[in-house]
Amino acid sequence: MEIQEEKTFRNYDQGDITAAVKEHYRKMRSRQTLDYVQRMKAKYLTYDKPLNLWDALEKLDALIDVSDPDLDLPNVQHLIQSAEAIRADNRPDWMQLVGLIHDLGKVMYLWGSDEDGTSQAEQWGMVGDVFIVGCQLPDSCVYPEFNALNPDMQNATYSTPLGIYEKNCGIDNTHLAWGHDEYLFQVLKNHPTNTIPEEGMVMVRYHSFYPWHTGESYGEITNEKDDKYKAIIKDFNKYDLYTKCDKIFDLEEIKAHYQPIAKKYLGDEVIYW
Ligand SMILES: [Fe+2]
Ligand SMILES: [Fe+2]
Repeated sequence: MEIQEEKTFRNYDQGDITAAVKEHYRKMRSRQTLDYVQRMKAKYLTYDKPLNLWDALEKLDALIDVSDPDLDLPNVQHLIQSAEAIRADNRPDWMQLVGLIHDLGKVMYLWGSDEDGTSQAEQWGMVGDVFIVGCQLPDSCVYPEFNALNPDMQNATYSTPLGIYEKNCGIDNTHLAWGHDEYLFQVLKNHPTNTIPEEGMVMVRYHSFYPWHTGESYGEITNEKDDKYKAIIKDFNKYDLYTKCDKIFDLEEIKAHYQPIAKKYLGDEVIYW
């Protein structure tokens, strides 16, 4: 699969899709507060729901990401497209696996709710570009005009560039808006037989963190380790973003290639969500 020209993607200003995407971001920006994120972590990071890796992928066949202006295919197709592009470039086997699973945290919708923004109908707590909560929202966020709607921006501490954080503490020590990246990262971290290399885990955790990895914001919070992370994310992101196409793959057919890799890095296929 070809990696396509950069300028044709992530255009948030193109007619009919704009209204739904924009509304998604309005809700996400006004409802994802520090308190909300802490509540979602307590609620969803329970690791008590067993679901086989391949069943989880199949479940994403029923989900279309409302925040993505470039894709109206079931999410599992996006995952296969990303993985196959990484494979075509002869990148490491673990990176191919990360391509295949990087959005798997969206299975959250199976036990999510409209109220939490974690359902098929309401996805503002599950998908979309994320930002740090507990500090000032940067202008590099998509639709920055919605930043002022976040109640935390009325808080004297949370509305400053450093907010509740120590200077240059690093993004590992912050709370990001709740969504599929952090969910899958924590679930994999909790999976006893997971041996995906650190670079792969970084790709899982921060691929939606656009205001940082592309917007260059959060200079007061980030540190040298994050600069290394950024190079990893940039490398991964071209496969996440520029491989989107209309070709439909069959999960059963590609399984022959990916199952041994999954076995190697995840061990047990039953994952506790
Ligand atoms: Fe994602
Ligand atoms: Fe993705």
